[in-house]
Amino acid sequence: MSIRTPESTAHVSYPPPKEFSASAHIKSLDEYRRLYDRSIKDPEGFWGEVATDCHFFKKWDRVVKWNLPDAQWFVGGQTNISYNCLDLQIERGRGDHTAILWEGEPCDDRGEPREIRRISYRELHREVCRFANGLTALGVRKGDRVTLYMPMVPELAIAMLACARIGAPHSVIFGGFSSQAILDRVQDAESHYIVTADGGWRRGSIVPLKANVDEACNMTDLVKKVVVLRRCENEVTMKDGRDVWWHDAVKGASDQCPAEPLDAEHMLFLLYTSGSTGKPKGILHTTAGYMVYTMYTAKLIFDLKPDDVYWCTADIGWITGHSYIVYGPLQNGVTTVMYEGAPNHPAWDRFWAMIARHKVTKFYTAPTAIRAFMKQGTEWPARHDLSSLKLLGTVGEPINPAAWEWYHHNIGHEKCPIVDTWWQTETGGALITPLPGATPTKPGSATLPFFGIDPAIVTKDGGEQKGAASGLLVIRKPWPGMLRGIYGDPERFRKQYWSEMPGVYFTGDGARRDEDGYYWITGRVDDVIKVAGHRLGTAEVESALVSNPKVAEAAVVGFPDDLTGEAIAAFVTLKGGVKPDESIKDELKKHVSSHLGAIARPKDIRFTDALPKTRSGKIMRRLLRELATKGRVEGDTTTLEDFTTIAKLRDDDA
Ligand code: WTA
Repeated sequence: MSIRTPESTAHVSYPPPKEFSASAHIKSLDEYRRLYDRSIKDPEGFWGEVATDCHFFKKWDRVVKWNLPDAQWFVGGQTNISYNCLDLQIERGRGDHTAILWEGEPCDDRGEPREIRRISYRELHREVCRFANGLTALGVRKGDRVTLYMPMVPELAIAMLACARIGAPHSVIFGGFSSQAILDRVQDAESHYIVTADGGWRRGSIVPLKANVDEACNMTDLVKKVVVLRRCENEVTMKDGRDVWWHDAVKGASDQCPAEPLDAEHMLFLLYTSGSTGKPKGILHTTAGYMVYTMYTAKLIFDLKPDDVYWCTADIGWITGHSYIVYGPLQNGVTTVMYEGAPNHPAWDRFWAMIARHKVTKFYTAPTAIRAFMKQGTEWPARHDLSSLKLLGTVGEPINPAAWEWYHHNIGHEKCPIVDTWWQTETGGALITPLPGATPTKPGSATLPFFGIDPAIVTKDGGEQKGAASGLLVIRKPWPGMLRGIYGDPERFRKQYWSEMPGVYFTGDGARRDEDGYYWITGRVDDVIKVAGHRLGTAEVESALVSNPKVAEAAVVGFPDDLTGEAIAAFVTLKGGVKPDESIKDELKKHVSSHLGAIARPKDIRFTDALPKTRSGKIMRRLLRELATKGRVEGDTTTLEDFTTIAKLRDDDA
């Protein structure tokens, strides 16, 4: 494990803007500290009170039952998150308020969007009920895993809420993944149902979603029904008996479908993510804890108020989209903005144009996007009126102070607090984050723990570090949003998260805590790579590479990249008789793209006669990482089985 420590910039601090604090849910650091203390001393009392803001069909008997590694929340309670996102909002008088404000990607000649849809809570409720009835008519039952492989259109949120309504866990697959990724996930989840679209718009082209699904389905006979939304009108083949158009599935379906009362611990969704080894793991979230945690974190971190037009630019295929496009904002009755396409289509000011057009008040995006905008220059945001903005956020990877400052000056015009939220697919919601009216921020730091979160910094052998320190980040107490397992693999769950440091949740991240108790996340200490904030496992990319007939062996590492945070370097041994040349590099890059998805495409490929391994046969990734980063390897290499490999790679590089 390597632990990187960022330069200390702990001295720079921005207090929350006074005006913001005055009307914020949490108004001062003192108030934060008081509530935080209480949340740690009396988690049951604290979360029990928070949960009274949600609707339960049957109240829980116990707030939390902690039997390591299983934390059950709101035990004995019955609820439904779809009810909380829709029916409850209508009961509260929000029925005519816009729930989803969506923009499609295609624009006319003047750069104006061709399609904008505003869907009220009442309309959303109706569409969700119709689709839920449609799914039921196709045979979907409570407990069935439904795979959603869709573009960023409102129907994706509708499908999620419809699944949740009838208790069928959804498994959303990022639309940028290709057929192999779909196949792996469908098989692991034993999912008989897929919802997809003919295609989706991305940077002016059509992503052939249905064709990717077909390719995956050709490799398995698990899939019984595929529902296809017509979005791009591109040509698709519909298989008789298996494929159904969305509009046919809902034809004549009733717009009433009472939400099923579900046990607090009922599986709400699976979301596949990369771990350090092997195949992607299905992170399992259950109903009540996730619901309460996303409602409350969204409310406090984004300081949501009824008139907010809130926009999170993530893709729903990732956890950020689940928690902070769909479930968190809708439970708070606000307008959540959804955008279908690329940030630079038709030009580099698409985001800023959208903020001005819809008077977006809260804006949440990724550091990689900010760095890309920075590179394009300030003239793009300067063209648009961004005065509606009140708060900015970032997520997914560490933000470098320069990007933070740029965001603060050029987008927030120095009046918007920035919330740098640290969390993971596994955590369900943000764990370390500023509260915008209370926490002074330091560029590059995710600041302080959210209520109920008890982080610690430990050494590799588990020793707790007090005060200012660097090390591995662990969480010592359960929290309501935490994962409830890895689907079908309780052993891996225990091993991955609970055995590294016995008794505590191991995050896989390194962190530094400064003298003010602020946390600075330094990045993954395992084999997870974050490319443009997208989470990838080295093993996944390696297996995509070795599936090419020319490749004998491959090892993949991440290395720093100015734009994407990290990029992928692949060290490849070709099969005997295959001569290494540039065209094979291109072929392999394309191979990974078509197999897994463009986000997994290696930036750098190097050929080697053999991979550096320890005597026990383990690939020495540290050496490869060093080689990819610095172009050379320093220090002790005597444990290498074959030092010539390293020497040779270094020579090639010279
Ligand atoms: C990284 C994304 C620094 C971290 C919500 C974590 C961050 C991984 C931040 C989880 C942040 C996320 N600062 N690093 N604000 N947010 N990370 O599962 O390494 O896609 O472990 O969840 O992203 O990625 P995931």
